[in-house]
Order: sequence, then C-alpha cells, then structure tokens
Amino acid sequence: MSSTLFRTKKVEQSILDTEEPEHALKKSLSALDLTVFGVGVIIGTGIFVLTGTVAKNNAGPATALAFVAAGVACALAALCYAEFASTVPVAGSAYTFAYASLGELPAWIIGWDLVLEFALGTAVVAVGWSGYIQSLMSNAGWEMPAALGSRDGADVFGFDILAAALVLVLTGILVLGMKLSARITSIVVAIKVTVVLVVIIAGAFLIKGANYDPFIPKAKTVEAGSSLQAPLIQLMFGWAPSNFGVMGIFTAASVVFFAFIGFDIVATAAEETRNPQRDMPRGILGSLLICTTLYVLVSIVVTGMQHYTRLSVDAPLADAFKATGYPWFAGFISFGAAIGLTTVCMILLLGQTRVFFAMSRDGLLPRFFSHVHPRFRTPHRPTILLGVIIAVLAGFTPLTELAALVNIGTLFAFVVVAVGVLVLRRTRPDLHRAFRTPWVPVIPILSVCASLWLMINLPAETWVRFGIWMVAGFVVYFLYGRSHSRLEKGETTKPEEAL
Ligand code: ALA
Repeated sequence: MSSTLFRTKKVEQSILDTEEPEHALKKSLSALDLTVFGVGVIIGTGIFVLTGTVAKNNAGPATALAFVAAGVACALAALCYAEFASTVPVAGSAYTFAYASLGELPAWIIGWDLVLEFALGTAVVAVGWSGYIQSLMSNAGWEMPAALGSRDGADVFGFDILAAALVLVLTGILVLGMKLSARITSIVVAIKVTVVLVVIIAGAFLIKGANYDPFIPKAKTVEAGSSLQAPLIQLMFGWAPSNFGVMGIFTAASVVFFAFIGFDIVATAAEETRNPQRDMPRGILGSLLICTTLYVLVSIVVTGMQHYTRLSVDAPLADAFKATGYPWFAGFISFGAAIGLTTVCMILLLGQTRVFFAMSRDGLLPRFFSHVHPRFRTPHRPTILLGVIIAVLAGFTPLTELAALVNIGTLFAFVVVAVGVLVLRRTRPDLHRAFRTPWVPVIPILSVCASLWLMINLPAETWVRFGIWMVAGFVVYFLYGRSHSRLEKGETTKPEEAL
C-alpha cells in the first residue's frame, strides 16, 4: 500500500498532460507579465493593514525587522520554488512539484493545503477591500447598513455584500481569459506601487526620531486570554505568553508573512508562460525582491511618523498621514489601496482555480473540472464553483484569524517544496533544470527550518484548525482521490495524442 501512496507522476508525463488539446491552457505570459503578476498579488492586505496591527501589538518599530525575517524565509523558499517551477512547468504549483517528486499522497496533502491557502486568502483580501471601499464611501457621506458591511467586530448578523460582489466580478473576468486579467493587472499594479512610493517618500519628511525609541520594545507578559491564542512555541517551552521583545519580532514575522504570500502563485502560472525555463525564476525572485524592499521602507517610515502605540490597526498607512496633519494624503492612499487589493484578490483566485484544475486533471478530484472552455481556453468550471464558494465565505467571515490559517498552510507548502528539491535531485538527477537552487542541500534545509520556525510562532489554535482541515483532506483522498487517480488507473497521455 505504501508504494501506491508514494507513487510519483513522471515529470515528462506532467508536461505531456498539459498538451492534451482538451486540457491545455494558453501559453501567453512573459517574464515581465509574471513579475507584474507577482507584485500584483504580493503587495496587499499585509502591508496596507497588518503593518499597523503587528507594530502596535507585537514588535513596535522593529516591525521592519519582522519584514526582513519573513522576507528571508520567503527568499529561501523562492530559491527552491524557482528550481521546481523551471523543472516542472505545468499548472498546479507545489502540488504538481510534489507529485513529481514525493508521491501522490504528499501531493494530495499539498494540493488540499493550497486550496485552503488561496480560498481563505482570497476571502481575507476581499473583506479588506470592502473595508477600504466603505471608508472611502463614508468620506463621501455614505454609510453601508451594518448588516451589509464588514463582519469584523460587527454586532449584527449580516453579509458583507461588497466583499462577495468583488469575488463574483473577478470570477467572471477570469473565466473570460488570462490575457484580459493580465492587462488589467498591470494598470492596477502601477497605481498600487505609486501609492506605496508616495507613502515612503512623503512620509520620510514626517519622521520623528523620538518615535523609534525604544526600537525593540521590552517584552510584556500577556495577562488574559485563552492559552491557545499564544504562539505554539511559548506553549511548547512552557513560557508565559508575552508580546514584544525579540520573540515579539518573530511573532510579528509569522503574521506579516501574509504580506509575502503570492510569489508562490507566480509558479502556478508556469503552464501559461511562454518560456517557463527562463522566465519563472526571473518572475518569482524579481517580484519578491521589489516587495521586500518596499515593505521594509514602508514600515520604517510609518513607525517613524507615529509612535507605534498610537498607530491605527484598520488603515495604518492612511491614518498616519491624518495624524500628522495631511488628511488628503489619507484619501489618496485609501483609494490606491482599494484598487490594489482588487488584483491581489484576483490572482489568489486564479492560483486557487489552477491548483484545483491540476488536481482534477490527475483524477484526484472529478475530471469534470479539468475541461477548459472551448473559446476562452480557461478552466471555467472550477473557476465558477470556487468563485461562488469564496464569495459566500467572504460575505460571512470576519478576517482576522483567517490570515494566520492562510500563513500556516503556505508555510507548510514551502516545507514540502524544499524537501521535494532534495528528493528530486537524488531521484531524477538527469532532468534539465533551467534554474538550479544554489548550495544544495544547505538552502533547502535552511528553507525548511525557517518555515517551521515561523509556523511554531503562530498561535496554537491556528495549528488546531489546520489539523482539522488536513484530517478532512485525508478522508476525501481515501474515499475518492486514491481510487480515481489517473495513475492508479494507469491512464497516461500518449505522445501522439498531444497537440
Ligand atoms: N500578500 C498578499 C497581501 O498582503 C496576499 O494581501
């Protein structure tokens, strides 16, 4: 039995499968498209919202160091992702990579895990977008009825209608085709990056040195609350739950990690890339570098403009300008943030449908979902199904705790990818790798350690929720995926059937 659980799908077979006419996606993206895509999804709720939350609750001005720590973990993972993406250029991201290297069960676990990451990530960002739109509306004197507004902290039963509407509109755009969405993305990314640069440049003139004192606030014991809300590492070692101090920087890093999510999604578009061997590593590493630099600068500027204890947790970048006497900047920043979050949401949704598509093409989920639309050449069925589910989720769910769940899922995927690089180097040394991870096995091992470190800095309750989701995944796999797998049935694409 263990041999079937760990049966692997040949890399050549993965590539051949993408060439079946019925199941082939259009190859239209370049390295620049990928970088724009990456920046488009990476900069979002993380920098626009979470910077204020973690500065105020966990790290103070040292939030910049938290961004560096999370960025280093992502860079290590990116070096592993880039090797995989350039070796196995097919849809599905870590799922496909795991299928080619670790075996079917690990691949299933990863795919299931990525569905969680992208679906909840899309919902989180849609709700954040809705918050910014509501703040802009209220500037103009229009208030949403409480039952149709944000669910975070709401005291009436209701449905966040703006968040749900955004997801449905984006679903429609994705069904119509990749190129259309890529074009819209580039315009929106330009607006978003402009807003971030304005924050950095204009804000730099408003920094007061006194706000950086103390740069790393002293650790403070947390009095109340369930112990499950404490980071797992504090429970593991029996430490009293605390915030700030050096450990606070790592807690902050495990939260602002959300701000980096997205570079892995660039890898999910490998199949739609004209020259994946060359362009994938450029797209992934390029977008990561740009974003890390911007995040560090933004957090230094914002914590310098306003003392961390007074930062707002809802719209920290905009509110820091209000607090220093420049309210019109605040309106501009909110407007740009709202526009920017649109692309983040769209690309998370795209990544999600592509993983689902790849899993159904392999027979682990019903094959019904892997037919592409005859005219638009997009996987319209999973796009519509998942779009509707996420819209409902975004409408009903408060976002705060979901972000941690998204992070743990993504970090877990990073661990598997890094292990996969090591395994594939041993089992398939012969494969052509357009990009090779440097210093193997050092980098993949460091990547595993860094991801695990951030994972254990997440709250214990996040681990419990993640465990429940993964157990559900095992049940679905053993009841459906295992017996319907195309590998199990011995179905493969023959070269003459391919386009
Ligand atoms: N990195 C994305 C964000 O911060 C998901 O919103």
